[in-house]
Amino acid sequence: MSTASAASSQGDVLLEVKDLKVYFPIHGGVLQRRVGDVKAVDGVSFKVMRGETLGLVGESGCGKTTVGRAIINVLRHVAPEVTIAGNILFNDQGRMVDLAHLNKKEMLRYRPRIQMIFQDPYASLNTRLTVRQIVAEPMELHMPELSQKEIHGRVEQLLDKVGLQPEYAMRFPHEFSGGQRQRIGIARALATNPDLIICDEPVSALDVSVQAQVINLMEDLQDEFNLSYLFIAHDLSVVEHISDRIAVMYLGNVAELGHAEQVYFSPKHPYSKALLSAVPVADPSQVSRQRMVLEGDIPTPLAKPSGCGFRSRCPIARPDCADEIPPLEDKGEGQLVACPYSD
Ligand SMILES: Nc1ncnc2c1ncn2[C@@H]1O[C@H](COP(=O)(O)OP(=O)(O)O)[C@@H](O)[C@H]1O
Ligand code: SF4
Ligand SMILES: [Mg+2]
Repeated sequence: MSTASAASSQGDVLLEVKDLKVYFPIHGGVLQRRVGDVKAVDGVSFKVMRGETLGLVGESGCGKTTVGRAIINVLRHVAPEVTIAGNILFNDQGRMVDLAHLNKKEMLRYRPRIQMIFQDPYASLNTRLTVRQIVAEPMELHMPELSQKEIHGRVEQLLDKVGLQPEYAMRFPHEFSGGQRQRIGIARALATNPDLIICDEPVSALDVSVQAQVINLMEDLQDEFNLSYLFIAHDLSVVEHISDRIAVMYLGNVAELGHAEQVYFSPKHPYSKALLSAVPVADPSQVSRQRMVLEGDIPTPLAKPSGCGFRSRCPIARPDCADEIPPLEDKGEGQLVACPYSD
């Protein structure tokens, strides 16, 4: 959690995602007609303040990566027939620009300011390039005003910032450990002086001891550069430490959104409670936590239940939970919960 975030006022919104929907088409039959949609993201709203970390958690397949990809506006290239609705408002010197409606060329202007780092740095780095080329690439693309000499100088500075020796610049990704590769990915993400970094499970593939080092580094960099993070993870215990606020996603919707302490220590949505009950407690004498085992698998977004998406697994579901997707309601002190029956 950054000190900068404590100072950020409510008015300093960097990103506002409003009622985002992302539906991937499914084709079937001999003619390969569109026969349905995977409702990967089905009405998601949240804000990221300047200097803040918003954690985004939920089980695999709930739509976290799709939210991240929608923000950087790459979904149309990945899946050209995708349906995207809603707004992705990005603060450009006080003016909120809707990234959801920009074409590739218009988006180029904002891409340097929003970067993404990934779970598997090895897969996301071009393994035929040296570290220098990898870190220099975004600058060559987006900062034409820099000379080659200036770019090389900046690569060395960035390597230093992420705790790598300048000599490493001439080496290739396969020569590094997982944690070091993630540091290379972070240096590359920092290269264009971004305001926002979308961190898609950046430590999920690393050993626990290395996870802590990378998270500490990310926190230091956040303070130094006043960065905002959208920090995606499937594990609540990973985001609790780094996040100012946490959004819990289930099957394409936000189930709960609140300050990290609210969501981690007193979750209200039945799904957040179940997620939390699966987190091991460091000192069991300190917290009495009842383990809740969720029955059944997460349904696919292809066959979403009507109404509340959680109702097929919810221990307190009622018949009227099938009627509509429950909206997020403030249950006190800004803790937003999408369940009218939560306590
Ligand atoms: N390009 C795509 N085409 C079709 N379905 C997709 C595509 N990308 C993701 N999905 C589906 O969207 C849902 C959400 O995926 P994803 O955003 O990757 O979830 P998460 O990151 O939370 O694991 C999944 O059911 C996934 O299969
Ligand atoms: S709306 Fe109904 S099914 Fe959904 S979490 Fe609340 S009680 Fe459970
Ligand atoms: Mg993912």
